[in-house]
Amino acid sequence: MTHDLKWSDAPPGEVRDQVGVWIVRAPAGQRLPPDGSPPGWLDEKERSRLAAIPQRSGKEAYAFAHWALRSVLGSSLGCPPRGVAFLRQPCPGCGGAHGRPAIRDPDRGGEPPEFSMSHSGDHVAIAVAEATIGIDIECHPTPESVAGYLPFLHPREQQWLGGRPADELVRDFARLWTRKEAMAKATGQGMAAVMNRLDLTGQPLGWRVRQLIAPPGYEASFAVPASVHVDVIMYEDLPHPMPEAELEPV
Ligand SMILES: CC(C)(COP(=O)(O)OP(=O)(O)OC[C@H]1O[C@@H](n2cnc3c(N)ncnc32)[C@H](O)[C@@H]1OP(=O)(O)O)[C@@H](O)C(=O)NCCC(=O)NCCS
Repeated sequence: MTHDLKWSDAPPGEVRDQVGVWIVRAPAGQRLPPDGSPPGWLDEKERSRLAAIPQRSGKEAYAFAHWALRSVLGSSLGCPPRGVAFLRQPCPGCGGAHGRPAIRDPDRGGEPPEFSMSHSGDHVAIAVAEATIGIDIECHPTPESVAGYLPFLHPREQQWLGGRPADELVRDFARLWTRKEAMAKATGQGMAAVMNRLDLTGQPLGWRVRQLIAPPGYEASFAVPASVHVDVIMYEDLPHPMPEAELEPV
């Protein structure tokens, strides 16, 4: 697994946190059996989520995203992809079981890494760090979709987007949206908490939001606590390629 790009936002002498970022394209072809039945490496919750997805393309995308996450985290923990176990932290807003996903790893010494995952179109973005982190990737929306979401944004964001040239509006909306979703995931509160309450045209108090280099037609961002300076290493390939549907999983 070789890295494709490395950068840092740390001033000289500052302590840096290593952040691994994978932005990976799903392989062409079917990765699920013709009947869409779940692969053996998904856990029970993932299986029921997969079963609830109506369309074949959505099932394939979900399966690839969760393989990618398991592959990256398994490599970081030193276990096979199917050996990674997850839990959900309580939602900081209501205490419900839909907060940040985390690794369940009672046997391992030390804290397991933090992570965040996002999927859009045929791409998946995954960030792994010691610090709390949120990541989002989005493919460029249609102008109609931008017009539909605009009224729900923070007033300053609406004003800023309203001043963007028409040919840059879709890209800039997608960039802003990834900043919002990265924050929604870093805090674990979900989009409702950031939609019109948080202005992401600048840096939110206590947080640092960074834009990532994304494939053409996509935008991506991540958010970490403001006290964290990052050394980012970006990868385009997974540690373990997703197995074909017929093959025995890793
Ligand atoms: C979390 C959220 C921002 C994800 O955005 P999205 O556009 O649906 O999807 P993405 O592909 O970018 O990200 C999905 C991943 O985010 C992660 N995620 C889900 N909830 C999360 C949370 N609360 N915090 C951090 N990450 C979360 C999961 O890994 C999820 O992957 P999965 O759905 O395949 O398991 C969005 O779904 C949301 O706001 N949900 C509402 C959460 C909610 O119900 N809040 C109630 C508050 S009381």
